This record gives sequence, structure tokens and C-alpha cells, in this order.
Amino acid sequence: MIADLHVHTRFSDGSYTARELVVEAKRKNLSHVAVVDHDTTAGLPIIASLAQRAGLGMIPGVEISAFDTRTSRKIHLLGYRLPLPAPHVEALCAPIRERRDARTREQVQALLEAGYPITLEEVEEIAADSFSPEELDVWEGVLFKQHVMELLVKKGAASQMYGDLYRALFKDDGICAGDIEYVDLFEALGAIRADGGVAVLAHPGQQESFDLIPSLVEAGLAGIEVFHPDHSPEDTARARALAEDFDLIEVGGTDDHGTFGSTRRLGEITAPEAGLDRLLSFDDEEVDWLVKTVRSAGELARRATTDGIDPKLKAGDIRDLVTAHDMAVEGYLRDAIGSRHPDHTFLTEEDETLPESTAGPAWIIDPIDGTTNFVSAGTYFAVSVARWDGGEPVVGVVYDVMADECYVGIPNRGAFCNGVPLLPLERPLPLEASVIEVSSSTMRRLKRDFGVETKQIRKSFRAQRALGCASLGVIRVIRGTLDIYLSATISAWDHAAANIVLREVGGAAVVEIGDEETGERSHGEASTSPPWFRRDRGLFIAARDRATLDALLAHLFRSGRPPVTFL
Ligand code: IPD
Ligand code: CA
Repeated sequence: MIADLHVHTRFSDGSYTARELVVEAKRKNLSHVAVVDHDTTAGLPIIASLAQRAGLGMIPGVEISAFDTRTSRKIHLLGYRLPLPAPHVEALCAPIRERRDARTREQVQALLEAGYPITLEEVEEIAADSFSPEELDVWEGVLFKQHVMELLVKKGAASQMYGDLYRALFKDDGICAGDIEYVDLFEALGAIRADGGVAVLAHPGQQESFDLIPSLVEAGLAGIEVFHPDHSPEDTARARALAEDFDLIEVGGTDDHGTFGSTRRLGEITAPEAGLDRLLSFDDEEVDWLVKTVRSAGELARRATTDGIDPKLKAGDIRDLVTAHDMAVEGYLRDAIGSRHPDHTFLTEEDETLPESTAGPAWIIDPIDGTTNFVSAGTYFAVSVARWDGGEPVVGVVYDVMADECYVGIPNRGAFCNGVPLLPLERPLPLEASVIEVSSSTMRRLKRDFGVETKQIRKSFRAQRALGCASLGVIRVIRGTLDIYLSATISAWDHAAANIVLREVGGAAVVEIGDEETGERSHGEASTSPPWFRRDRGLFIAARDRATLDALLAHLFRSGRPPVTFL
């Protein structure tokens, strides 16, 4: 995972629109960016939803302009993992924005009077430039001095944003000098914490704020920005030492403002992996352990993609493969989980035995989902692990190994990708505008077992795909890049974990089990709990919401819906 944890956008004084930022972060192959606009969270929902579809982890944050009242120093405080919305941070920041905007307007007036070739309208245009209508809708319209400088550069009055003219105007006794009143540092820290965010001291080397660490830690500071473009090697070393002494999360980033005056651009400074792991942890020992374990299992499979993989056919079927790596990953997971939880039961793909009872804690494991992709392409396969207890889901983990994306679903707590919460799916679309994943084998079975004509699928949806990995098919629905996943050839382990994640973003799924060979439907006779906790293959449909699922069932099964179970 590669994360730049200090980025600004056009919602404060950066130049990136939401789309530009997401595209640029993907181009740079970042797994995460933290957007920490000055004193605002307005852009976060739009950026989060674009990031989610693009497969980028956007950590919602803020950089609060605060003041250490005891020493009258300007101190910036970062807040990470903010909820959307973040009411305490917003209540604290609204007055700062008002003061900032008013001050900038005074500065523009002073420049006008001094004969500089700018108008307020032009500054406003620069600030709002390239925003989409949705962005304009939520943007608070706050003007920053950077917008003024950008215009002066454009007009040729200055050669760069932070050059001589900037210093002459905005520093010392320049006509635009003078800071606005900020908020109290400890109040800022309190607001971040009250919203459940993680408070981190920004660039202590830039603002000479190292000495504040002990009192801030006492008040709940969780981290320190170690890596920052303004930090000298000594600053970095000092920040690291303090992080160690006070057990603080170490973060870092570029402070990239896009074209509005940046010394380093997106991804050129990144957070240390251990800091990122801590920042994104679930604060739940069991879940953190499980995620680590599934990632390690995935690592075994990832390393194998560089070896020659020698597949064996299951039951002589060229379409059903197993490799030594499926066995190794399954063994690894069973050992790891089994030694932590010796009394739990397992349903795993490569072990023929059925658990005697699933009334207690039980694990459903597909060591490599998408073995055909693993063998033929070395990508697009997942490790899938679900835990149930007493017939209720507890946690689901789907690890897209080659994309290094780990999806976690925890009932009533949410869905996450690489530690970043996923937004609910809100894309009401008519059925025919849907993209559906369905393979030719599934179409054949739908015809054989349910009398569904091929054209009911081929001609009724915008597009049809088949990606060869059930759990990642469901993950695509979760990401919002696919609308429906439909298979008549999969077993519990293919969808058990993904479905737990799906439910947490408001998706819906059904299952129905029949005999693979004869097509005889045996739904409802299962004695295990939950009813689909068995080895049989059957019908499974996941959709982005219940309405889409109902419409699809009505469309497919015109003469009566089979007895599906809603998961
Ligand atoms: C398979 C994949 C595939 C589905 C097959 C599954 P496996 O899982 O999920 O997409 O069509 O029916 O068996 O065998 O690679 O774990
Ligand atoms: Ca498998």
C-alpha cells in the first residue's frame, strides 16, 4: 500500500478538482490519499465516491488552522478518518472560513487600490475554475490568498506563487499582511476526537511545534507528521524520535496543492507502512489479526504467480482446476485460524468433509477463488474467508491479491477496502441500464433448471461480462463498477465473505441450491445453518440494491420465482 497523507484540493487552496485528484492518484499508483483541506470537509463526500469507483482509498481528513494561545504560534492540526459529515470539526471550522474569505476580499481590495491589474470576479473565477456542477454545489466559495497570487502570476505581475512579490505583499508590512484569527489548538484537537477522528500534529518542523507534543499527547494526540517537504533531515529524525517516545502514529505526505504552489507532487513523499497500518487499523484485535492472516495467505499465492503453476483437473473437468497453491493457502489459513480458535469448525473448498454442525463459530474459506485466472493469467483471483457464529455472519474478508485490495465487511459496522470505509451504493438505475456478470455456463443452467431463455439476458441488459472470480464479481458490485452478479455454478465459499461486505453497502443477494447433475431443486432441505452452508453448487445473485434484485428476479422467473433465500 502506498499512501500520500497530505493533499489539498480546490475545496481549499489546492488546484485539484475531485476528479483530477483521483485520476492523478491512480496514475501514480497510490493505494491511498488523505485529503486534508484547510478548515473544510465540504469536498470529502464527492471525492470519496469518485475514489471508491476508481479503486482508490481516500482517507477523509482536515487540516485545521489553529493557534497555540500560550505562545501565540500558528499550529496546523491534521484530523484523519473523519466521518462524513463531521459535525464537530465543521462547527469549529465554519468561522475560520468566514474570516479567511473576508480577509482575502480585503486583500483584493487593497491590491486594487494599489493599482494591481485584478478584480474580485477574476479571483472568484480562479477559485471555482474546472469545478463540476456537483462540486460547485457544495463548495463554500472561500477565497484564499493563493487564488490571488495565482491570478497575479497569470497576469504576469508575479513570476511564481511564493516568490518576491508574495513576500512583499503578504509578509512583514506588506499591504496584504496580517493573519486571521485561528481557533485554539486544544479545541481543534477536541473537535477531531469528538467526531471520532485521529488527531495528528502537522509538520512540527515547519512550525517549530515539537515542544507541544507532551501536552497534546495528554489531550489525545494520536500521531505526528514525520515526512513533509519542509522537514530537514534533523526535523524528520526529531519527529521520529518523538513518535517513538510517545508511541505516536507516524504519517507523511507531500502537502501537494497541485499547480497552486507545491514543492512536491502527489506520491513523491509517502507515509511509512507501519504508520499507515496503524492509521487504518480496525481497533479490534480479532479483525486486525484476521486481515493480517488473510493478507499473508494471499502473499503465498502472489509469490506463486512467478513460478510455473501446474494445475490438476478436479474430476477430469478442464474447467475445474486445483493447484498445490490452493492447498497450501487453505492449509495456511486452517492452521492459523485453527491454532487461534481450536474449537471452531470449517467449510473449505479443498477439504471434502462437511462440518458436523455450524451452530457455533464456523469459517467458510475459498483459498483461491478464480483458480483458472490464477493459472492462466496470474491475476484476478482472491482469498475469501468468512466467519459465522450461531447462523449469523461475524466478518467477511475478500483479498484481491494482485490488486492488493483487502475488503472487509463487519455486520452493522460497515464495509472497508484497505481500511477505508466504503460508501453505501446509491445508484438507482433501470434494470436495462445494468451491467450484469453472467457466464455462458450459468446461462445454460438457467435455461435447463429454470427455463430462462438466453435472450432474457443477452438482450435485456446494457452489457454482460464474465470475469471468472465470483468473490471479485461481487466486489465489483460493491465498488459500483458492476450492477448485478449472477451465477448458477458456485458454492458457499465463493460468495460467503463477499456477501457480508455487500450487505454493509446496502447490496442484496439471494441463494438457491439445486443438484448439480440433475438440476433437481433441493432448497429448504438443508439441515445445516445457514441453509446454504454446504458443498452443493447453486444459484447466487448479488445486486447493488434490493429493488434491482427484485426486478431481476421478476424479469428472469416470469412464471414464478424459485424458492430463493435472501441473504
Ligand atoms: C470459481 C470462480 C468462478 C465461478 C466458478 C467457481 P474457484 O471458483 O468463482 O467465477 O464461475 O463456478 O468455481 O473454483 O476458482 O474457486
Ligand atoms: Ca477456489
